Parts: sequence; C-alpha cells; structure tokens
Amino acid sequence: MKKIRIAIDGPAGAGKSTIAKLAAEKLQYTYVDTGAMYRALTYKSLQQKKNLADEQALLELLMSSCIELEPSPAGQQVYLDGQNVSEAIRMPEVTANVSEVAAHAAVRKEMVDRQMKLAESGGVLMDGRDIGTHVIPDAELKLFMSASADERARRRFEDNKSRGIHIPVEELKQDILRRDKLDSEREASPLIQAEDAIFLDTTTLTIEDVVEEIVNLVKAKEQSG
Ligand code: CDP
Ligand code: CDP
Repeated sequence: MKKIRIAIDGPAGAGKSTIAKLAAEKLQYTYVDTGAMYRALTYKSLQQKKNLADEQALLELLMSSCIELEPSPAGQQVYLDGQNVSEAIRMPEVTANVSEVAAHAAVRKEMVDRQMKLAESGGVLMDGRDIGTHVIPDAELKLFMSASADERARRRFEDNKSRGIHIPVEELKQDILRRDKLDSEREASPLIQAEDAIFLDTTTLTIEDVVEEIVNLVKAKEQSG
C-alpha cells in the first residue's frame, strides 16, 4: 500500500496538531507541525531583539538558523541551532508575535522550500496554514479543520491551565481572532481552504471521532492509490 501525503490546514485551536499527531501514530506516518518552524524563528528574533517588521533582517536570521523537527513519542521535538526549544516556542510572547513574523513573503518562501523537502518522501501528515495550497498542492488528501472562536479560545484556556499559565478566556479569544485575521489577510500564502480540501468542523466533535474519520479517509486513499 502506498503511503500518501496529507495536508491539514485551519486556524488556531481547531485541533490540528492534537489530531494530526494521534492520526500519525495510528497510521505510522510522520507528523510535521510547520507552525513550530515559524515559532522557532519568532523565538530567536525576540531573543536577539530584532525588529519584527524588518523582513530582510528576519530572512537573514532564518538563513543562518538550523531548525530541526524530530518526531518522538512525547510529540514533535523542535531544535533550534541544536538546542531543544519545544517548550520555549509555546510561550505567550512567541504566540503573540508569530503571525507578524509569518506574514513576511521572503520568510514564507524559505519556510515553504524547507517544508516541501520534508514532505517529499510521503507517509507524512503535515499541519499549518498553507499546506494544501502551497507546500503540498498535490497532496493526496487535504483537510481544512475549524471550530467556533469561542470553542477554540476555551481549548487554549484549558491547554494553558494544564501548563500553569492563566490567561483570561476573553483575552485568548481576542488573540485568536487577531491571528486569524492576520493569517487570512496577508498577501503571501494566506490561510484559505484549498478548493479540493475536505472541511471538518470540530466544534462539537471529540478528538477520537476526528482521528477515526481521518484514519478512515487515509486508508481509503491508500487503497485507491
Ligand atoms: O498551534 P497554533 O494554532 O496556535 O499555531 P501554530 O500552528 O503553532 O502556528 C503559529 C502561527 O504560525 C500561525 O498563527 C501562523 O501565523 C503561522 N503559520 C503559518 O503562517 N503557516 C504555517 N504553515 C504554519 C503556521
Ligand atoms: O493545532 P491547533 O492550534 O489547531 O489545535 P490544538 O493545539 O491541537 O488543539 C487545541 C486544544 O483543543 C488541545 O488541548 C486539544 O486537546 C483540544 N481539542 C479538543 O478538546 N477537541 C477537539 N475536537 C480538538 C482539540
């Protein structure tokens, strides 16, 4: 059976990474979280006090950065210049600034080139904002996952709570809406549903339900390919 390439896109808190990771385990595919690459660059830019509006400075920083994604049973591990930054890139300061960094066309082009290489071999489940439209436009299966903004903010609130971070749910909702807007309205590869993507509204679905649905869709594609 041929292992396929799966593109999963959608806004923050839709459930992409949780669901993609579990589906990848069941299918024995490699899960690639592309948001982690934009987060790693944002983390480094903040550490080096770069001007986040300076596209050329951020591109230069990216070109001299080694960002590695390694699958592990505890979830994808992210290494920046050899240092494990998997936790650090989830901090609120990175989350608040990542969409500004990700809006630069030159940064996106380099990121997309790197991500295309990661998807080359197949057997990959990649999530992000532009995977079905730019990174793997010929993916055998494309999904666009979403949920209501209230539900996505509630999920982020619970996520933060479990990591000892307390941010009011309304503040999280505003951040999510602001990022949705920046991601959807930018000129370079904006967040939009690919024409041939299957839409999944996860608002009222359990994680297990969505994982099962994806596993079934993949198996059907594997058999037909
Ligand atoms: O996990 P969460 O949904 O909060 O975000 P993420 O997947 O870690 O992505 C963080 C940010 O990176 C997004 O809000 C986008 O601005 C950007 N991103 C992107 O532009 N393109 C991608 N393929 C992945 C992420
Ligand atoms: O990657 P993305 O930003 O799209 O979302 P996520 O980080 O995978 O999901 C955000 C939170 O929502 C996680 O804590 C998931 O466990 C939770 N979730 C949920 O409760 N029900 C779903 N159907 C999907 C995700």
